[in-house]
Amino acid sequence: MNEGHWMKLKKAVETVRARLETTPDVAMTLGSGLSDAFGKPAGGITIPCSEIPGFPVPTIAGHSGEFWIGPLCGKTVLVQRGRAHYYEGNSIEEVAFATRMYALLGIQTLIVTNASGAINPNFQAGDLVLLTDHINMLGVNPLRGANIEELGPRFPDMSAAYTPALRAMARSVATELDIDVKEGVYLAALGPSYETPAEIRAFHTMGADLVGMSTVPEVIVAAHAGMKVLGLSIATNLAAGVDPTATLTHEEVIETTRRKGDEMRRLLMALLERL
Ligand code: HPA
Repeated sequence: MNEGHWMKLKKAVETVRARLETTPDVAMTLGSGLSDAFGKPAGGITIPCSEIPGFPVPTIAGHSGEFWIGPLCGKTVLVQRGRAHYYEGNSIEEVAFATRMYALLGIQTLIVTNASGAINPNFQAGDLVLLTDHINMLGVNPLRGANIEELGPRFPDMSAAYTPALRAMARSVATELDIDVKEGVYLAALGPSYETPAEIRAFHTMGADLVGMSTVPEVIVAAHAGMKVLGLSIATNLAAGVDPTATLTHEEVIETTRRKGDEMRRLLMALLERL
């Protein structure tokens, strides 16, 4: 990270901190079509991205670009509606900006959600999947450049980037609520074109269960900063070529997310209570 970006980040943290009464316990990033999954709970405050200096404003349909901070299920939660993607033309520093801000605010737990395509032939469209690990095919790493010691070490371990204890808790909550969840490895592809069937076959061979265009940069910086991470994906569609007769559309992604968003919300609310 260069000096200018580090200054921008510190300024953003000061701006947000000035509006917080306490440090949130959890930050929750809501992906495509999930921005409204929690509505606007009573109480709390909303900070539009545009009011945070240096903050990249999300641009695509299904992402509204704001933070809500307030009490939810017995915790103080920061909910990020919409995220910055690399394919939008943001720099990788911009993509990681919000998560780094959470780390510097002292937030210790990150819940990331996303929509993905199912590569694993045992998965179906609409499945909820807990992320166990990832494969970074973005060709870029948000930790590139000078390391900021305040954020974390130069060569951070990624052996347990997706915190096993949080995943175990989510699994047990899902069982109690009778919500079916699967587990899998998420591969981040660059996008914005969906993958080709040949790419999906290659990713399958590599060990990927899901493919998407986000999350990995956020999880890398969260793990760098020592945050606990839970990743939860909605497999909104079968990845390209898995069903040779199907075609992929963003509308299908948004539609499946809306359909399953309520189940995801119930799972996450019960998990928040348990944390
Ligand atoms: N590929 C990449 N990203 C996605 C997909 C997909 O099939 N579905 C939802 N996000």
